[in-house]
Amino acid sequence: MRFLFVMDPVATVDVNADTSFAIMLEAQVQGHRVDHCLPQDLFLVAGVLHAQVSRAHLERDPTEPIKLAQSEAVNLETVDAVFMRKDPPFDSNYLWASLLLEHLRGKTLVVNDPRGLRDANEKLYTCNFPELMPETMVTSHRERIRAFVTQVGGSAVIKPLDGAGGEGVMALIERDANFRAIIDTVTHNGRRLAMVQRFLPEYKQGDKRILLLGGEPLGAVLRVPKADDIASNLHMGGSAHAAYLDDADRHIIATIAPRLQRDGLYFVGIDVIGGKLTEVNVTSPTGIQQMMRLTGENLAAQVVAWLVEHAQNKPQR
Ligand SMILES: Nc1ncnc2c1ncn2[C@@H]1O[C@H](COP(=O)(O)OP(=O)(O)O)[C@@H](O)[C@H]1O
Ligand SMILES: [Mg+2]
Repeated sequence: MRFLFVMDPVATVDVNADTSFAIMLEAQVQGHRVDHCLPQDLFLVAGVLHAQVSRAHLERDPTEPIKLAQSEAVNLETVDAVFMRKDPPFDSNYLWASLLLEHLRGKTLVVNDPRGLRDANEKLYTCNFPELMPETMVTSHRERIRAFVTQVGGSAVIKPLDGAGGEGVMALIERDANFRAIIDTVTHNGRRLAMVQRFLPEYKQGDKRILLLGGEPLGAVLRVPKADDIASNLHMGGSAHAAYLDDADRHIIATIAPRLQRDGLYFVGIDVIGGKLTEVNVTSPTGIQQMMRLTGENLAAQVVAWLVEHAQNKPQR
């Protein structure tokens, strides 16, 4: 089969941490053709989506894990699946790329479905399941935020809606002298919406990342923050530990899976702190390499097998 990965420049790939790399490498091992392009390499001619792609050669070589061959134009209706794995931010370029990918609907499998990618802001998507998440408010109003923090006991976290990788997530403590300044910084003085959420002290025990494939759990990893940091994201220095699914996780997965399936969100990473759903990562969820090292299971092979199966039964929606 021929798979195209729309993603960031190959120079950004960390050979031991990148989830796209692990899936691409496994696809290559299984004898598939793996192509790479950037979102801006997509092009539309008379309603037919093409891309200027380069065949990728993958190797566990930290200096150059992905070598690209000379680029060529390809009609994307002729490839078997497109994996959209560009990292956030969700900016205009991302939006336009997702709209171009619409032209493959019913022709070539796109993971995740571009409509789902547009509908699901990674922070706001959890709000479809208020019963699964910690008390949360989305607002730009300082006084509403203040009242919410009081209502949940005096401590909360505030998150920018377009943050990723722990960026901009801050503790919001009522008696802190920076209380107002933090709100004004994150809301740009009341001009931008932000998410405020009950502070979960369990974050210290770890933030569980669970990867879901087709609504089923693929693997899990517990990310434990450094002693002096609220963010447990691995990019922020959090450490990876083995994780197992408990009843709360299984309940969360069973509840959200039908909605994910409906939205075409086939490969996502959910974040669970203290049994509560805090985030649904849809653009470029990561963690597969840590999960594979901790369990010894070849999870990338399961993703490739899923791609092969679903590329053969092209979605007609
Ligand atoms: N409600 C919360 N209570 C305590 N810590 C939190 C809470 N929400 C998030 N965090 C901490 O902030 C980190 C990043 O938050 P998250 O919502 O997953 O955003 P992102 O990973 O996109 O930056 C989490 O890994 C966790 O350590
Ligand atoms: Mg997160």
